[in-house]
Amino acid sequence: LECGGRTGSVKQQLAKLFEGSLKVIFPEEPNMEPLIAVCTAKFGDYQCNNAMGIFSKIKGKSTAFKNPNSVGQAISRHLPPSNIIESTSVAGPGFVNIVLSSKWVAQNIQNMLLNGIDAWAPILSVERAVVDFSSPNIAKEMHVGHLRSTIIGDTLSRMLEFSNVKVFRRNHVGDWGTQFGMLIEHLFDNFPNWEDTGEQAIGDLQEFYKASKRRFDDDPSFMQRAQQAVVRLQGGEARYRNAWKKICEISRKEFDLVYQRLGVHLEEKGESFYNPYIPKVLEELSTKGLIEESDGARVIFIQGQPIPLIVVKRDGGYNYASTDLAALWYRLNVEKAEWIIYITDVGQSQHFDMVFSAARRAGWLPDAKSILYPKTNHVGFGLVLGSDGKRFRTRSSEVVRLVELLDEAKSRCKAELVKRLEDNGKLKDWTDEELENTAEAVGYGAIKYADLKNNRLTNYTFSFDQMLNDKGNTAVYLLYAHARICSIIRKSGKDIEEIKKSGKLVLGHADERVLGLHLIQFAEVVEEACTNLLPNVLCEYLYNLSEIFTRFYTSCQVVGSAEETSRLLLCEATAVVMRKCFHLLGITPVYKI
Ligand code: ARG
Repeated sequence: LECGGRTGSVKQQLAKLFEGSLKVIFPEEPNMEPLIAVCTAKFGDYQCNNAMGIFSKIKGKSTAFKNPNSVGQAISRHLPPSNIIESTSVAGPGFVNIVLSSKWVAQNIQNMLLNGIDAWAPILSVERAVVDFSSPNIAKEMHVGHLRSTIIGDTLSRMLEFSNVKVFRRNHVGDWGTQFGMLIEHLFDNFPNWEDTGEQAIGDLQEFYKASKRRFDDDPSFMQRAQQAVVRLQGGEARYRNAWKKICEISRKEFDLVYQRLGVHLEEKGESFYNPYIPKVLEELSTKGLIEESDGARVIFIQGQPIPLIVVKRDGGYNYASTDLAALWYRLNVEKAEWIIYITDVGQSQHFDMVFSAARRAGWLPDAKSILYPKTNHVGFGLVLGSDGKRFRTRSSEVVRLVELLDEAKSRCKAELVKRLEDNGKLKDWTDEELENTAEAVGYGAIKYADLKNNRLTNYTFSFDQMLNDKGNTAVYLLYAHARICSIIRKSGKDIEEIKKSGKLVLGHADERVLGLHLIQFAEVVEEACTNLLPNVLCEYLYNLSEIFTRFYTSCQVVGSAEETSRLLLCEATAVVMRKCFHLLGITPVYKI
């Protein structure tokens, strides 16, 4: 498990020890996987849960053990020596309870403080992943659904990157399809100087989209021209290609404004990129017997699905599904991704189920459960609701402009901050830039955290009042908690870098030990959040961390106590881990409050 100096999570390290024990007891079964879990009872910190399963497996074959408890006893007895475990005890049907050595926990934390938080990066069994996220559609509005995808996708990418996975952050922009016919003809008709002035002239791209759609619906001759325009565009006619490019460019600039604000980095490979690959990919699927004729279209029937996946429309055109099949082929064969993750609303689950099933039938993805890679996952998420419980919209029942949403979060935060600083007479200590940066960090952080803290599958209600509350489970509360810890350290007047090198961390008080234990569980929490694609797991950890810290800080005096050095180290470790959580959640920490 040693991997570039990393030891893996505590669970992984314990698993290694228990694997050693199992190998000694059952030499004829070399691949027994240790089942290690955090202990929920008070008898230990972790537990090993293999005994029952093993006993029921060997019951008939061997008389060496009379019950699961004796299997547990044997597992515990044959553990290789290590400084990780203080003691073990066997409970009931063979659960091996594990008490970690407080000394080891403390050393582990000190080691992280000296070598940096990367020492606590989880070790995953995958090296290359594609995360397909954000993916708005050209000329249409980028809505709150795309915002969710952007936030969730960025966090998952960050967690995978932290775990040393090479991540391709893919923006699968909707930049191809029949809607471009009407857009281009509308551009030609109404903006004759589009090549020079396009951007200023078009102005509002969403209005532009709506206007061309109205004409398309109302005027049959326009509709006909639009349909021909699609053919000319796809045939590569220069004027049409250029107009298409122009429209994409304008959209892209708008999208980038949102990405810049959110600090999200993406690499665009839009639908058009995969277009040239479609014929070859469909030919392969056809040769393999997957594609059938149905109602004039070419389709793939999927077992258990009421409707087939249409891959060539009746008019001979390709669609969303044909593009996704080509993109999957490309990601597997050219980019050699082992894990491909798609982030969209749950409404698209059926589409992805069908695409993945087709890929399995084609032999692109393994069928057997024992073969783990390559694998694909659709990360679905629920709706964003307004306070009325309906789909989130602005007053005019228009879709919410994301940039305006971000602006509002920031300005509300700034007003709140200024008011508070005025009240406690500290406003004069702040530069304008500091105010701006803090308002941005807190405002955008609040939006991200409000989204990520819920299980992604549930709908969540967008409420500025809730997300900007400085009490409760919000980014505001957590960012302030972190800043407060930093100020404890600052006010101690001690040089924390010096203490990291020369000081010693001792977990004497019960609340110190609880905090220490929570800190060293960081790696396995990130691992779980990655493996199950659930960012809320990390949010929960972060919130608990701040609660556990508060308990410690209430019962243990830090500055001026006999244990000051050790406790400052514990404060610093908490701040470092909180910062890493913020970083993984795409939130910028603040240091001054
Ligand atoms: N453009 C799509 C939408 O707005 C999302 C694309 C998701 N990615 C994919 N490979 N299909 O709904």
